[in-house]
Amino acid sequence: MPRQRLAERLAAARADREAAQAVRTRRVVEAREGMQVLVDGRQLTSFCGNDYLGLSQHLDVVAALQEAAAWHGVGSTGSAGVSGHHAEHAAFEREMAQWLGYERGLFFGTGYQANLAVLQSLLGEGDLCVQDKLNHACLIDGARLSRCELKRYPHADVEAAMRQLMTRRDGVAILATDGVFSMDGDQAPLADLALVARAQDALLYVDDAHGVGVLGPEGRGSLAVAGLGAREVPLLLVPLGKAFGGQGAMLLGSHAVVGHIAETARPYLYSTAPAPAMAAAMRASLKLIRSQPWRRAKLASLVARFRRGASALGLPLQESFTPIQPIVLGDNARALSLSAALEQAGYLVTAIRPPTVPEQQARLRITLSCEHNERDVDGLLAALAEALGARKAPQPA
Ligand SMILES: Cc1ncc(COP(=O)(O)O)c(C=O)c1O
Repeated sequence: MPRQRLAERLAAARADREAAQAVRTRRVVEAREGMQVLVDGRQLTSFCGNDYLGLSQHLDVVAALQEAAAWHGVGSTGSAGVSGHHAEHAAFEREMAQWLGYERGLFFGTGYQANLAVLQSLLGEGDLCVQDKLNHACLIDGARLSRCELKRYPHADVEAAMRQLMTRRDGVAILATDGVFSMDGDQAPLADLALVARAQDALLYVDDAHGVGVLGPEGRGSLAVAGLGAREVPLLLVPLGKAFGGQGAMLLGSHAVVGHIAETARPYLYSTAPAPAMAAAMRASLKLIRSQPWRRAKLASLVARFRRGASALGLPLQESFTPIQPIVLGDNARALSLSAALEQAGYLVTAIRPPTVPEQQARLRITLSCEHNERDVDGLLAALAEALGARKAPQPA
């Protein structure tokens, strides 16, 4: 058989994506102030970012980054095990561990990298990783990288998780779930999953990218809401590109487990450590998350306003009480055309299509931030109503 030409394969794949309306393009953000973005020369109100608490441009956070960069430079100069582990990283790891009640933290350059690292380092052939079907792609990819057996249970189905854990008793088992599901906004049944993990001798690992900062007292996230801590959830990931308004991820766990990952995880060992200035900025974000509950209160009230208005309009809301409020539309063409109509009306809400979400579940993933105001929310609702031909005008609160 002749070798397949790469160019032909790529052209065929591109044609398939075009036919399925699955081509992905990147929009260039030329300027941004809060939720106002300048894209292709037009000012739009963004409803699709993850800056839930508006910290990405907060003066304290920006000043911490600038000052640390002035003192320490931009790059970390090496991987953490060689020359890249800085006092700012160490301080941030200690502060996060103390705040969330864990023995130790480990700072990664991205959440994606952290999930590859955790699962690759803790699991291998003969082990089992049981995951919610709607977990973020990097949890799935981490399990694949580890070569363990990966089983995925129907979304939020605790009994199915239990059954899958019961299929294998020989190796190590990890039960992994998002705390808040990134494309749906609903919350994992963590208390029940903790019971299942304990009964099945599995380690429960929660990726709370969209929970920490937003939910619970002081923004401690999904675990605090469910009344759980390090005993029930021995390993927790806090990606920092969302409520923290920065980049990277903090892994939290015991000295033994996190220490093992720090010494053996290939995605951690063989990658340049994040900038010390980013750790400094995230320390500033942590202070604001803890000390400014008004950000969460305002966000919650905007979420409630959006849901009230959307249900008055008969929009198909999901069971989500977090800032992620998807409108599931079905096929790609519908999601794209609604996104384009919203853009015409002045709103940036990118269409989310498979494989990011299951087939026939293309959607608008609307996200709210405390940087929005009531007028923004009402304006978006009116634009949605217009675009969808909904039954009545939005009801003011
Ligand atoms: C649940 C979840 N985990 C991990 C990630 C990846 O984190 P990062 O963007 O820092 O790579 C994301 C989103 O980006 C996410 O939604």
